[in-house]
Amino acid sequence: MLAIVKLGGSLITDKRKPFKVRAKVLKRLSSEIKEVLDKSKTKIVLIHGGGSFGHYVASKYVGREITSHGFIEIHEAMIRLNSIVLKYLRKEGVLAETVHTSSAFTLNNGRISVANIETIKGMLGKGITPLLYGDVVYDVSKGFGILSGDTLAAYLTNTLNAEMIVFTTNVNGVYRRYPPKRGLRDLIRVIDLRKLDLELRESKTLGYDVTGGMLFKLIELKRYIGCRKKVKVFIINGMRKDFLKNILLGRDVKFKTEIRVC
Ligand SMILES: Nc1ncnc2c1ncn2[C@@H]1O[C@H](COP(=O)(O)OP(=O)(O)O)[C@@H](O)[C@H]1O
Ligand SMILES: [Mg+2]
Repeated sequence: MLAIVKLGGSLITDKRKPFKVRAKVLKRLSSEIKEVLDKSKTKIVLIHGGGSFGHYVASKYVGREITSHGFIEIHEAMIRLNSIVLKYLRKEGVLAETVHTSSAFTLNNGRISVANIETIKGMLGKGITPLLYGDVVYDVSKGFGILSGDTLAAYLTNTLNAEMIVFTTNVNGVYRRYPPKRGLRDLIRVIDLRKLDLELRESKTLGYDVTGGMLFKLIELKRYIGCRKKVKVFIINGMRKDFLKNILLGRDVKFKTEIRVC
């Protein structure tokens, strides 16, 4: 089985503090990934988010054109985070190697137009766990644009024909309203993407209060995955010990949001 795992920036860094890595979480997640690779036949493509590295540096370009200097600055921050993530994975014994997003992908008006999938496939075939990350990349019509880890996750699930996609975050899944008023009772256990009219952004009328990061994941899943019955999509809390491991091993976890794409 092939699984795409997104390590959320909110999980591996502390988004409130610039350049703050959650080292213990990263170490534990790396060892859970190692255990899954050892215990099962599952292959994994890893993607990490920007957290308080990429998002922090990129925030000054919101609503503005990303300059060439900006491109380098954001990329620099992401390389720093990426090398830390890679270091932890290797320390725990995962044979991981980075596929640098800005070298392997090109956008055209925000949509992926070039993707070097062969490299990723080749690595997987050789027993390597490819590691990608959300980053700023060249956009043929705009100059530079952000290719987020969420978009990469949805895109690669489709192109690599993955059977599972797991978004690990710092929350228990998607809540009806955020912050939740009734704790886990506000957690949406299953979201049917066919019933969610994201074009209209009518999350309010559906009773969902999904903003920013969470809504974006659903939009990208809907855009890239289409109707593929086989794929299982989960949003889980990576702060919880063994949740990532168990879900990848096909076991249930206490709480999660499952996304039905079809
Ligand atoms: N309805 C919601 N349910 C859960 N989280 C939400 C919701 N709306 C907003 N959020 C916020 O979205 C965050 C997760 O998105 P994000 O930070 O983009 O995750 P990632 O780490 O994958 O990038 C949560 O930490 C939470 O603060
Ligand atoms: Mg995000």
